Amino acid sequence: MEDFDIAVIGAGAAGMMCAAVAGQRGRRVVLIDHAARLAEKIRISGGGRCNFTNLQASPANFLSANPHFCRSALARYTPRDFLSLLKAHRVSWHEKHRGQLFCDHSSEAIIDLLKAECDTGKVAWRRPVAVDAVRHANGSGFALDTSAGPIAARALVVATGGLSIPKIGATDFAYRVAKQFGHKLVEPRPALVPLTFSSDVWAPFTVLSGVSLEVGVATGEKKTKVAGSFVEDLLFTHRGLSGPGVLQISSYWQPGEPIRIDLLPDREPVAELLRAKSATKRQIGNLIAEWLPARLAHAWLETQGLSPEARVADLPDKTLRRLGEAFSVWTLVPSGTEGYRKAEVTKGGVDTRELSSATMMSERVPGLYFIGEAVDVTGWLGGYNFQWAWASGVAAGEAA
Ligand code: FDA
Repeated sequence: MEDFDIAVIGAGAAGMMCAAVAGQRGRRVVLIDHAARLAEKIRISGGGRCNFTNLQASPANFLSANPHFCRSALARYTPRDFLSLLKAHRVSWHEKHRGQLFCDHSSEAIIDLLKAECDTGKVAWRRPVAVDAVRHANGSGFALDTSAGPIAARALVVATGGLSIPKIGATDFAYRVAKQFGHKLVEPRPALVPLTFSSDVWAPFTVLSGVSLEVGVATGEKKTKVAGSFVEDLLFTHRGLSGPGVLQISSYWQPGEPIRIDLLPDREPVAELLRAKSATKRQIGNLIAEWLPARLAHAWLETQGLSPEARVADLPDKTLRRLGEAFSVWTLVPSGTEGYRKAEVTKGGVDTRELSSATMMSERVPGLYFIGEAVDVTGWLGGYNFQWAWASGVAAGEAA
């Protein structure tokens, strides 16, 4: 049987970071992954340029049933620390907006960097290799049955991610290991995912597929933990809504609950419509088309039973008020999401209330660690999920 100090299962963002840090501390590390291609999620991320961190990353940008859990790891490994690593490997990058940092050229640079860091730490690679079973060897470590033979390790780090994008190798392995060792799960759900609507609700809007605009989008009551609100772009699709603003709100959305959209977050449409009534002879369709994409303006007036040719001056105040309010609070109840096939991340996962926030180690089973997306810490869109992968990977890599 091969013998190591640490076995890391999952050579994605968190697993490679953890293996590299532990290896460079002199630990004998084996890194196991079942996928034929290394770190496919990093490769496809950020449209091929990997939004590898966010300068504004703070615990407020993460969802979890245990919101303080992420604090310690995020404070000890910051976006600046990752930038130092990029500098050492001469990887150039740029800020897109709102603190989101992307590679100038390709996300391959991040994979190469992590691979090189693992090689510096003399990490032993086992891939593509499947792990068939994991056993706790009576307090003296772990025994793994793998397709490359049995492996023994003093510590086991589970870094197999969440359920999103099964076609590139996502599995529920982390959840199965967690349950095997008596850990609880916070129910996994697709997050950062487009929202869908029943065909009768969506029928008037299918013609808008491809239209995009900046909106305010919110869900939940402010007082509750699941309330969220964002001002970001929305994209109409054939089946519902997508775009950054909708992906963000999907992480907060609870099935059966409505979402509220403000189509004109920078305007006061009721006041502006009433002012326009006395100041212009224009048609309502032309006026609204200055505020919204023309296709949306016309479809919107239709859903309100108004002709675009109607003159603003001829419309009753009551109608203008109703129209203005409808722009500001468009309330819709999604029927569901596009699911793990399209979700960027999985919300929920291994319950962090039985993990150490300093080391990511299980409080039930000494030597067992869970890191990255497998645990119940879910970042906003914009580089936050990779920052969590790096930070939790470093925390475990420094401790195991
Ligand atoms: P990750 O999924 O990266 O790695 C898990 C590894 O475990 C994989 O290599 C997998 O093959 C392996 N594995 C799974 N089951 C196994 C098993 N049973 N046996 C052995 N190995 C197994 N985030 C961000 O911050 N910025 C961005 O730009 C993007 N963009 C983006 C685009 C798309 C399309 C997606 C789907 C996701 C993103 N993300 C993102 C999210 C980000 O990719 C994600 O949060 C991290 O990759 C999570 O890192 P982990 O290492 O935890 O899992």
